Amino acid sequence: MRVVLGVSGASGAMLALAAARHLRRLGAELHLVLSPMARRTLELELGPDAAPELIGLAHRLHDPQDLGAQIASGSFAVAGMIVAPCSMRSLAAIAHGLDDNLLTRAAGVQLKERRPLILLAREAPLTLAHLRNMTAATECGAIILPPVPAFYLCPATLAEAADQIAARAVDLLRLAPAQATPWTPPKGQDHGP
Ligand SMILES: Cc1cc2nc3c(=O)[nH]c(=O)nc-3n(C[C@H](O)[C@H](O)[C@H](O)COP(=O)(O)O)c2cc1C
Repeated sequence: MRVVLGVSGASGAMLALAAARHLRRLGAELHLVLSPMARRTLELELGPDAAPELIGLAHRLHDPQDLGAQIASGSFAVAGMIVAPCSMRSLAAIAHGLDDNLLTRAAGVQLKERRPLILLAREAPLTLAHLRNMTAATECGAIILPPVPAFYLCPATLAEAADQIAARAVDLLRLAPAQATPWTPPKGQDHGP
């Protein structure tokens, strides 16, 4: 069960670590590709130990410039790919099939092979170009999962919110029974989100 985790330079670096931990817990063989800006946001948002920790969770770290890597080919069987977080630059490249680095190429491979591709597209507010690119990526077969907290679960910390978002992303790959905390209505109430 191989899974590609792409990490781009959008805010929300903790989503990458949370997704990697969930995938490892499921026993996935983790193929990691970090854009240069992802390394920068990991350090800025989480400190100098974050990138080494993330890389330590991967079975294989791929060079983002190596377009000859195994994950650049549809012949290398993988169950799917998550981009967490996904910048508007990477989203645009994926939506328009640019395949201009290993992250966007591997994402394009998932689309051409009709495998799941989950994009935790993060920006706020959104321009018309961002929205159009989300539509285009969806039309190509990707799933846009904006990393917004499940407010209805009342997360106590940012890490808890990120963990739930990452679990939802992993669940969308449908590799195993769902891991994310489900909504449960409080006793006496029969309506919820
Ligand atoms: C601290 C920081 C936060 C950023 N947050 C975002 C963001 O939330 N969304 C986004 O699209 N770009 C964000 N950027 C800009 C991207 O890093 C930049 O557009 C970059 O070219 C993305 O390239 P990549 O997709 O190859 O990682 C951020 C940059 C920095 C330094």
